[in-house]
Amino acid sequence: MKRKVTKAIFPVAGMGTRFLPATKSIPKEIMTLVDRPLIQYAIDEARAAGIREFIFVTSRGKSALEDYFDDAPELENALRKAGKTAMLEMLKTTNMDSGAIAYVRQNRALGLGHAVWCARRLVGNEPFAVILTDDVIAAEKPCLQQMMEAYAETGGNMVAIMEVPPEKASSYGILDIADDMGAIVRARGMVEKPAPADAPSNLAVIGRYILTPRIMQHLHRLKAGTGGEIQLTDAIAEEIAQGDPVYGFRFRGQRFDCGSKPGFLQATVAFGLARDDLREEFAQYLAHMTAVQKAAE
Ligand code: G1P
Repeated sequence: MKRKVTKAIFPVAGMGTRFLPATKSIPKEIMTLVDRPLIQYAIDEARAAGIREFIFVTSRGKSALEDYFDDAPELENALRKAGKTAMLEMLKTTNMDSGAIAYVRQNRALGLGHAVWCARRLVGNEPFAVILTDDVIAAEKPCLQQMMEAYAETGGNMVAIMEVPPEKASSYGILDIADDMGAIVRARGMVEKPAPADAPSNLAVIGRYILTPRIMQHLHRLKAGTGGEIQLTDAIAEEIAQGDPVYGFRFRGQRFDCGSKPGFLQATVAFGLARDDLREEFAQYLAHMTAVQKAAE
């Protein structure tokens, strides 16, 4: 019987060097898309998918994340006194119940696989989700929820996938496809960041996973792989090697790579334009900037 997935791991230990100097004093997960930190998008997506326990794999310098999810009594009182009810309600949606969030430290930067493995005791013998906060996905139905629905049919392991141009293969985990059924593909292999000539397909893993607890055992045995890091991709490939199913899921939605500056800027534009309270003014400004740009060419 397939067990309900109620736990999710959020690997948030990375140093975020691509966003220095900002990340010198703030975790990159606190960086803001319009008015919400990246981590809030990830948490909202997890909640919509039925996740009840949120496991953060953190590192030194990430305490702003813990504060973010805590109650803020002084702020809440001030808003209450000022009669700012809507703001108060909005603020409350960022509070997490006591016991719903757990933090474990990854004390050395040994890679994504190692970060996930650090949460093994909290996950126990249950299937679990992994969400990478850098990958922000705009979708009518949140991506992880789409995956949970597909997973209810398939079981096994499931990763979100999208097509990428061949020259980008070396930035992703890439699936080797055994069977393409449309929205769902079955993988016969998976490689981390292959050279374009070695990529087995153009289907790249995006940062959403539903995994069996066996993955933790594979991670336990793994040696460092691509880039000298312990790779989650290698543990998933090990599942396939042992005959356990791994599915790729073509989600419906638009993914932004908020781990890169161009991706973050694109997300800011897209999320800004999606907001009723900002659209008009922002669209006008963008049109103006485009015209200025064209005239200068
Ligand atoms: C990680 C994974 C990779 C995956 C990617 C998605 O890489 O290792 O398999 O395709 O996330 O964003 P990273 O971007 O952390 O280097």
